[in-house]
Amino acid sequence: MNARRRTVLAAGTAGAAALVTGCGSSDGDGGGDESSAPASDGAELTSTSDVPAGGGTIFKDQKIVVTQPADGEFKAFSAVCTHAGCIVATVENGTINCACHGSRFSITDGAVEQGPATRALPAEKITVDGDSIRQG
Ligand code: FES
Repeated sequence: MNARRRTVLAAGTAGAAALVTGCGSSDGDGGGDESSAPASDGAELTSTSDVPAGGGTIFKDQKIVVTQPADGEFKAFSAVCTHAGCIVATVENGTINCACHGSRFSITDGAVEQGPATRALPAEKITVDGDSIRQG
């Protein structure tokens, strides 16, 4: 008997497919576009018409309160309450008022008119240029 033997080559190198699991090229979280506003001197803060005479206006972002204690006389103070650091909330009745615990400060010189704060609001430098009020 002539048995033919076929040698079957086991040709099965079954696709050793190196499955490259594509981890997409994430290039991180670049591009956080923080607009870092320049804290440079001379940045325009507001215009004189936005600050009421006998009152004031609070600029929370700049942490400044601008007041007009007398016609045409502008002052600026830190808007950070010296008691515990809240941003002051209102300017009314001749005082800059903190809503956190009720401190009140003079619009004329930042002095404490009512506690619990014990230190005046520090003055901030502003320049009035025509009807424009600038920091610095
Ligand atoms: Fe302003 Fe306390 S933080 S009164």
